[in-house]
Amino acid sequence: MPVVLNEILLGRRVVVRYRRRNGDATPPFSDVVGDLIALDGLSATITTRHGPVVIAVADVVLARAVAPDRRQILALERIASHGWQAAEQRDLDGWLLRAEPLAAHLPVANSVLPLGTPTRPLTELLTSATRFYRERGLPAQIQIPLPARGLLDAELATRCWTVARPGLMLSRPIVGWPMRPDAGGLSTMVESVPSSTWQRGYRARDGQLSQPAVNLLARHDQVGFASVTSDDETVGIARGVVEDGWLGVTAVEVAADQRRRGIASALMQSLVAWAHGQATYCYLQVETNNAAGLGFCHQLGFAEHHHYHYRRAPEAV
Ligand SMILES: CC(C)(COP(=O)(O)OP(=O)(O)OC[C@H]1O[C@@H](n2cnc3c(N)ncnc32)[C@H](O)[C@@H]1OP(=O)(O)O)[C@@H](O)C(=O)NCCC(=O)NCCS
Repeated sequence: MPVVLNEILLGRRVVVRYRRRNGDATPPFSDVVGDLIALDGLSATITTRHGPVVIAVADVVLARAVAPDRRQILALERIASHGWQAAEQRDLDGWLLRAEPLAAHLPVANSVLPLGTPTRPLTELLTSATRFYRERGLPAQIQIPLPARGLLDAELATRCWTVARPGLMLSRPIVGWPMRPDAGGLSTMVESVPSSTWQRGYRARDGQLSQPAVNLLARHDQVGFASVTSDDETVGIARGVVEDGWLGVTAVEVAADQRRRGIASALMQSLVAWAHGQATYCYLQVETNNAAGLGFCHQLGFAEHHHYHYRRAPEAV
């Protein structure tokens, strides 16, 4: 349904039809496709393949978001899968099997990602995948990007695989990143390894991480660990990876008593600066029941790229 250009579309890929300024122009309208990166009462800025285009809001006839297609969803999922590289990764006829039993709490490192279109029958694949996880003491689960893998999802539903941990893949262009003035005064740094300072901020600050957990976090050739400290205390952390022009941000966490002070915004700003010149888009994954995470992402202008959930094998429930 076409809508008028409004802030709901900020950060999204849009198609905009606008009236050409020259009254005699033929044709009288033109279309532009790109990312809406700025909008105020007077003008809209859209980055296109040929550079930024500024359109007067008064000339806009209609505008709508362009949803990513199946290929784009799977391409981003492939990029995101490199952001968490499990110790064991195996191809099963186009499906990526990932296992990191010592970090079993992270489904992203302990699940199947159905990236390719398999040639073998589904029952055979599910049997092989279930056996793979059972042998490692893990529940069999499949991460389903939607709607790209909608048919598989429906098939698993009929086989009583249950839905778990629904989430959103959010994205936005890096250009036009909103800078928060109060974030400037915070002491932020980005390191290439998860230092003890960084680790103190990870997962409820209960001490140092196990070596396998550290290995999993660091297993990437372009990874940055951002932290904010105050009075020698780590009050916030985030992890960034750069892959194929995308900055992927994970593990954003701010101490409960330090929230709403701009710390997470400062962490994001520092990772964007760290990725400068190497990434044009940023992605982040948030579970749908995480109101704070969603509020934070929307405030930063992230828009839904697609959604996903996990499907767990009946015997694993
Ligand atoms: C989500 C989280 C990282 C935000 O950290 P933070 O330092 O409080 O965030 P900021 O202060 O930079 O907030 C920036 C803006 O995000 C939005 N926001 C932040 N927390 C919010 C909340 N609980 N509800 C709604 N909006 C929120 C607000 O618009 C806020 O601006 P404002 O305070 O001026 O209104 C923090 O709540 C957290 O650590 N949660 C647990 C871990 C987590 O969920 N991580 C996933 C993050 S994607």
